[in-house]
Amino acid sequence: MKIIHILFLFTFISFTICHASVNDFCVADLKAPITNSGYPCKPVKSVTSDDFVFHGLVAGNTNNSFKLGVTAASVTNFPALNGLGVSTIRVDIEEGGFAPMHTHPDATELIISIQGEATVGFVTPTGVYTKVLKSGDLFVIPPGLLHFVVNSGKGKAMGYAAFSSENPSTQITDLLLFGNNLPSDLVAKTTLLDLAQVKKLKAQFGGSG
Ligand SMILES: *[C@@H]1O[C@H](CO)[C@@H](O)[C@H](O)[C@H]1NC(C)=O
Repeated sequence: MKIIHILFLFTFISFTICHASVNDFCVADLKAPITNSGYPCKPVKSVTSDDFVFHGLVAGNTNNSFKLGVTAASVTNFPALNGLGVSTIRVDIEEGGFAPMHTHPDATELIISIQGEATVGFVTPTGVYTKVLKSGDLFVIPPGLLHFVVNSGKGKAMGYAAFSSENPSTQITDLLLFGNNLPSDLVAKTTLLDLAQVKKLKAQFGGSG
C-alpha cells in the first residue's frame, strides 16, 4: 500500500515537473489564427530573450477630437503576453482632452497616474465612484464597468494602465451608439435623445442613417 502511494506521488510529481517545463511560457505564433484559448505557441527553440521585451510604449498621437493618445502593448504586438493575462497601455491626454465613456468587458484596469491631473470614474447601477488623480496615484476599474478619464488639470496628463488580460476588448459607448448605420430615429427613440442631437453625434463619430 505504502509503495503504491509513493509510486503514485512520484508519478504525480514527475508529471507536474514535466508539465511545468513544457508550459513555462507560450509566446504567440501570430501567423497562426487565434483560438478561444489564445494563439498557438511558437516553438520553444525559436524563442529568444527578444521575445520578452517590448519597445515603443511612447506617447500616442493626440491630434483627434478627444485630444487622447493611446499606445498599447498587448498580445497582438507583444506576443510573449500570450496566455499570461496581462497587458498595458500608455495614455496621453492634452489639456481639455478626455477618454470617452467605455468598458473593457473582459478585464480589470489598473490606472497608474504619472503626470498632470486626471479625473477618473466608473458607474454601476447603484453607485458613482470618481476621484481626481495626481502623479503617483492608482485607481482600479473593476471589469466590465462603464468608465472615463478627463484631463482636469493644466497641461498634459499622462499615465499607464495595466489590464488583467493580454488582449482586452474595448467598447466605446458613443461609437456603439453613433458610429454605425443603426437608423437615427431608432437611436433617438431608444436613448431618449433628440433626433438632431443623434444626427450631430453620428456625424462626429462616423455613423450614418
Ligand atoms: C491634426 O489633424 C488634422 C486633421 O486630421 C490635420 O489637418 C492637422 O494638420 C493635424 N495637426 C498636426 C499638428 O499634426
